[in-house]
Amino acid sequence: MKLTPEEQAMLDGAAGWSTRKAMEILVTLGTIYGAERMVEVTSVQVAGVSYDNLGEAGLAFLAEMAEGGGRARVLTTLNPAGMDVEDWRPLGIDATFAANQQRVLEAFARMGVVTTCSCTPYLVGNLPRYGEHIAWAESSAVCYANSVLGARTNREGGPSALAAALTGRTPAYGYHLDENRRPEVTVQVNARLEENTDFGALGKVIGAKLEGRKVVPTIVGVERASLENLKSFCASIATYAGAALFHMPGITPEAERFSCPAETVAVSQDEIDAAARSLSDAEPGEVDLVSLGCPHLSLREVARIAELLEGKQVTKEFWITTARPTKQIADMMGYTQIIEAAGARIVADTCCVVAPIRGRFTALATDSAKACYYARAKNRFKTLFMPFDEVVAEALR
Ligand code: F3S
Repeated sequence: MKLTPEEQAMLDGAAGWSTRKAMEILVTLGTIYGAERMVEVTSVQVAGVSYDNLGEAGLAFLAEMAEGGGRARVLTTLNPAGMDVEDWRPLGIDATFAANQQRVLEAFARMGVVTTCSCTPYLVGNLPRYGEHIAWAESSAVCYANSVLGARTNREGGPSALAAALTGRTPAYGYHLDENRRPEVTVQVNARLEENTDFGALGKVIGAKLEGRKVVPTIVGVERASLENLKSFCASIATYAGAALFHMPGITPEAERFSCPAETVAVSQDEIDAAARSLSDAEPGEVDLVSLGCPHLSLREVARIAELLEGKQVTKEFWITTARPTKQIADMMGYTQIIEAAGARIVADTCCVVAPIRGRFTALATDSAKACYYARAKNRFKTLFMPFDEVVAEALR
């Protein structure tokens, strides 16, 4: 790879041990993927924050990078942790796990990372602009940044994202390059999409149609999509199709740069309905955990839940997961008080997938296709997949 004098100096150790290590990671990655140079990044999102995923080996790596003088050079935020950092006891988290999770966050904080712990960093201050090069981990956020914002990122892993934070660089390959952002297949949607669940089901259908081919789709036939619909769709298409970028004419900003590819696959209403049905294997009576907030909720969604819960009482454990800054606004607006009076919880910093709750519940009710996938695969829960307002109704039933 051709490095600038500043990049070469980082590799030679002029900026300290951790920066050298970080540059070594990036040069190795760039060499593997055939990158010719580095690009400067303006924003980083680091995943692999939950101690449940990191374990001692991951924590030791972070502590070493912090100890070695590593310091974030660009705005860097964190993916969800394994617990609500301020209020973990009511979630049934044990004290040893909590102490270890705190050590993880302290290591990041020492490196100047903003410890907001959210998979929707774009809703809480880490909002890259069109065309900016960034280095994000977290598949749903990567897909949102590339597709909806028009920023440019590969799907980073935890170490490569941290390395980008400490150097302000990432290797120029993949989605950083124009030629890899071109669509290769057209997906013609012949269905009405309104709820997050419709968009989640669409992501699952596209995954099945593309059969593991990692191609950029242009998705036509979608007339309207809210921020919340797109956030749900990004999580689903990233989970079920491994997609990091799609175009949607009239909705995503880069779509107009390209014409629709000749290869076309069609998606019918029946296929969307069947995919939605396939995400439910629990009977309503089996649900003992209800959760909204995968990906983390927008303020508008929290407000809607408060409206639906006002003056009522939930009958099941109900986690409303969001970023801490969103919860702070919810506190200020009185939404938190309404939600807590109804017996539900606003849970910050974590979610029902990354928290260590494997086997603790029988069945999860959610509007998230991604949460259904991981609830079954990781946590061994059954799932009930239903529209947003119906999930709230299920908590009250
Ligand atoms: Fe976010 Fe957790 Fe879902 S990290 S996308 S809420 S699985």
